[in-house]
Amino acid sequence: MKFYFPEDFLWGGATAANQMEGAYNEDGKGLSVQDVTPKGGFGPITDEPTDDNMKLIGIDFYHRYKEDIKLLAEMGFKVFRISIAWTRIFPLGDELVPNEKGLQFYDDVFDECLKYNIEPLVTISHYETPLHLAKVYDGWKNRKMIDFYERYVTTLFNRYKDKVKYWLTFNEINSILHAPFMSGGIATAKEKLTKQDLYQAIHHELVASALATKIAHEINPNMKVGCMVLAMPVYPMTPKPEDMMKTLELDRSNLLFSDVHVRGYYPSYAKRLFKENGVEIQMHDGDEELLKNTVDFISFSYYMSICETSDEIKEMGAGNIFPGVKNPYLKASEWGWQIDPIGLRYVLNTLYDRYQKPLFIVENGLGAVDELIEDEQGNKTVNDDYRIKYLNDHLVQVGEAIQDGVEVMGYTPWGCIDLVSASTAELKKRYGFIYVDRHDDGSGTLERYRKKSFNWYKEVISSRGGNL
Ligand code: BG6
Repeated sequence: MKFYFPEDFLWGGATAANQMEGAYNEDGKGLSVQDVTPKGGFGPITDEPTDDNMKLIGIDFYHRYKEDIKLLAEMGFKVFRISIAWTRIFPLGDELVPNEKGLQFYDDVFDECLKYNIEPLVTISHYETPLHLAKVYDGWKNRKMIDFYERYVTTLFNRYKDKVKYWLTFNEINSILHAPFMSGGIATAKEKLTKQDLYQAIHHELVASALATKIAHEINPNMKVGCMVLAMPVYPMTPKPEDMMKTLELDRSNLLFSDVHVRGYYPSYAKRLFKENGVEIQMHDGDEELLKNTVDFISFSYYMSICETSDEIKEMGAGNIFPGVKNPYLKASEWGWQIDPIGLRYVLNTLYDRYQKPLFIVENGLGAVDELIEDEQGNKTVNDDYRIKYLNDHLVQVGEAIQDGVEVMGYTPWGCIDLVSASTAELKKRYGFIYVDRHDDGSGTLERYRKKSFNWYKEVISSRGGNL
C-alpha cells in the first residue's frame, strides 16, 4: 500500500551562514573562525582571511537571497534551515550593543521566507564562533562564553519572536569532541587540549543551550527549541560481546549530548566516563537547575553509519567529522562516506525509543561532483540521478520509521542549494537541488540552475512522498 507523509510534515532544505552568505566583512560583520580556515574545519588556521578561502564569497547568498528563496518556494518548501552568523550581530562577540545592519539582514531574509509561507528553522551557532572569542577567551573552554551567548540569543529571540518559531541551539554539538576549533571556537590546539578542558567546554555549551531554551520560552512560549546532534549509528563489527560493549560505549559518547538536553541531567554512565578520563566538571550554583530546561524536540544530521571493533582495526572509513571502522557491506560516496539508508530508520527508531520526543532530520544528503550540461531545450542542468537515488532511498526509510510509530517533524536535506563544504571548504562537493556556477579556483558567474533533482524533490513534496 502506498504511504503518504503527514499533511503537516515540514519539507525543506538546510544551509549555514558561513558556507553560503559570503560578504564576510560587509555591513559591520566581524571575523569568525571560518574566515581563517581556508581548507576547512580541521585547519590549518591562517592569521588573516586569505583569498583562497571559498567561504569569504560563499555563493553570495547575502546579495542573492531573494532569488534563492524564490527557487526554494518553487520547489514547494515548507521550511528553510539557515543559521545566523553570530559575527553579523555581535562582530567581536563580547560587545554590549548588537549591530543593527546584521539584525536587519535576517529580518529581510525571514520576511522573504514568510512571503512564501516558508517557516525559517534557525541554527543559532553553526561553526561560526566569533574569532575574537576564540583568540581572547579560547572559546567554550571559558565560562564567560555563556554570558556572551546569553546576550546573543536574547537579542535574537526578542527581535525575531514573531517571525521564527523553530530554533536549534548548536549545530552538531557533539562534533566538539573531534573539531574543537570549528565547533567550539577553542583556539588551544586539539593535541594539547586536555579531556578536563574539553568536557568543561561541553558543560558550558550544555548550560548555555538550556539557558537559551529557558529564555526562548519566557519570551514567546510558542517558540520551539531543539538540540542538534551529529547522529552516526555504530554497528558492532561482529557479534562478539566485546565488540558489542565497545559499540555501546562509542554510541554513548555521542548520546551523552542528547541525554542531557532531553532528560535535563547527566546520565549515570557519564560518571565512569569522567572518572576514567580524569575529568571533574566544575559546576556553578544553579547549573543543575538550568539543565532542567529541556528541549522541545531533537534534531540531527544523518549521513552515514560506522562500525566498531575490539580487535585491531583493519580499515578506517572516511566520515563526517567522526572517523569510524569501515563497514564491508556498504558502498561509499566519492568522499568515502558510507551510504546506509536503513541506518536512518535505525537512528529514528532508537532515538524515539530512548526519548519519545519529536525528531527532526535537519541534514542528510550526498556530496558529489556534478557536471553542468545543456538539455534538449538548451537549458543548463545537471542529471543527478545518483543524488535522487540517495535521497529517495533515505526518504523511503523515513516513511518506514513513521510507520514504525516514530514522530518525525520534517526533513531538510543538506545544502539544498550548492554551497561550500564544511570539512574541506570546496565547492566541488555539491549537495544541492540548485547548481551554483562557482568553482574552487574562484571562477564562475554565480548563476543558479535547476538540477534534475529539483523537479524530483518538487514532486516528492507535492505528492507527500507518494512518488518515492
Ligand atoms: C555537517 C555540517 O557536518 O555536514 C555541515 O553540519 C556540513 O555544515 C555537512 O556542510 C556536510 O559536510 P561537508 O564537509 O561535506 O560539507
